[in-house]
Amino acid sequence: MNIAFSLNGQKTSVTIPEDITLLAMLREYLNLTGTKQGCEIGECGACSVLLDGKLVNSCMILAPQVEGREVITIEGIRGPNGGPNDLQQNFIDHGAIQCGYCTPGMILACEALLSAHLNPSRSEIREALSGNLCRCTGYQQIVDAVEATAKSRNLQIEGQKTNG
Ligand code: FES
Ligand code: FES
Repeated sequence: MNIAFSLNGQKTSVTIPEDITLLAMLREYLNLTGTKQGCEIGECGACSVLLDGKLVNSCMILAPQVEGREVITIEGIRGPNGGPNDLQQNFIDHGAIQCGYCTPGMILACEALLSAHLNPSRSEIREALSGNLCRCTGYQQIVDAVEATAKSRNLQIEGQKTNG
């Protein structure tokens, strides 16, 4: 079957078997391997993407379900010049980058949180990351990175209000 949807801001159309997951479509048919294949049963968060702005596990969504909808993967999260965005830079600066398996999903979980909450508390940040399982971190640096991003985004919004 053919499926058409918005992928990282671009209109995309792809021919796929109708019984594959969104995760498989992204990795195997669209070559977007930043979305990781972990548990494949909706528990680890490695396959996280944004679907119409909401965080979902792409291993739990059938590809045809995204017809006409908007999908953002880790490849779609970047700064204005194509480098890291502010959240990704804060992950780097705060030593919050963990393994390549977990980090993409964590970034997407944090973006979903920050688009819904301008001022998340540290416990809200931890709660937002509760679907991203990782065996090697205490999440402390990640919480620091998200807090720093929230602060700078708030300052930006305040600045925009003041300037007009
Ligand atoms: Fe989807 Fe683990 S691979 S939640
Ligand atoms: Fe991947 Fe901890 S960051 S297991």
